Amino acid sequence: MRTIEWDDSDSAVKMIDQTLLPGELKFIKCRNIAEVCEAIQSLRIRGAPALGVCGAFGVALSAQLSRSNTVEGIIKDMNAAGDAIKKTRPTAINLARGVDRVLQAAEEGGLDTWLVKNISLEEAKNMADEDAAINRKIGKNGAKLIRDGDVVLTHCNAGSLACVDWGTALGVIRSAVADGKKITVLACETRPLNQGSRITAWELQQDKIPVQVITDSSAGFLMKEGVINKVIVGADRITQESVYNKIGTYTHSVLAKEHNIPFYVAAPTSTVDAESWDGQVQIEKRPDDELRYIGAGKELNVPIGVPILNLAFDRTPMENISAIITENGVFYPPILIGELIL
Ligand code: MRU
Repeated sequence: MRTIEWDDSDSAVKMIDQTLLPGELKFIKCRNIAEVCEAIQSLRIRGAPALGVCGAFGVALSAQLSRSNTVEGIIKDMNAAGDAIKKTRPTAINLARGVDRVLQAAEEGGLDTWLVKNISLEEAKNMADEDAAINRKIGKNGAKLIRDGDVVLTHCNAGSLACVDWGTALGVIRSAVADGKKITVLACETRPLNQGSRITAWELQQDKIPVQVITDSSAGFLMKEGVINKVIVGADRITQESVYNKIGTYTHSVLAKEHNIPFYVAAPTSTVDAESWDGQVQIEKRPDDELRYIGAGKELNVPIGVPILNLAFDRTPMENISAIITENGVFYPPILIGELIL
């Protein structure tokens, strides 16, 4: 089951609506760019690699929908769609990369209108297939770091639902389990949108991988008590200096360092941004209401009038990271960004 794919019969981007998990497994179809943007903004689709593929399919969709009968006209529509999609979420670099990849393929190979439409769609489909294959490689590379009996802490969801399939951090765990190792996962709840308790716990349960949910603030004590052997997380962007990932990741890295616990990051090279420095990467601020209200009944959680700072991501300095796992291998400190992407 893929998290996101192209629906040929309907000319639509089909994806699991992750806002409904774990209560309901439902696929939705985005048939225009407004629906694609809404799905990204409201986290129906989320996680850096899945966002990249969604960006790619979104631009391919705009090519299919274009009413222009010239190559230039279709490319113009694709650029407009790409701009709108890129604006939805700023931190994960994969989103912009997915958009740009399809645009570039269309511009380079689209000699006529039929080719522009076809090349765009083929490029997006290739990207989805590649993502699934890359995650298998990340899993294989990272599984060597995991020992039989490990209790592994993870934060947010860097699983198959954050990608097309298999996952990055959870891909490593899946591969280790496939190798016959017995592993228990501690999934941090990951406030405020609970990608850990809702999504990570759900997908590991589907695979019958032992998982227990903890509150985000339990991690330090459980490290001190010797319960946690390893931490493994995904990434939204890796720069020269830092790993950007779900808010709370930095805290876990400091705690892991304090308790001499390995802290691993698993991510595809498409998440590596060799151009940016800290301060140049925008950390997404999510709407106040995600914290202001709680639960389906929208009960008040923060008094009206009290200001809220709802950061979606933080950055973890390289010195807190024990290794980065990519499809190219495992990279230990000193982690040089150039080596990650070679
Ligand atoms: O806000 P989200 O749910 O998109 O945040 C996702 C994460 O922080 C993931 O850890 C990251 O994208 C890596 S996914 C393989």
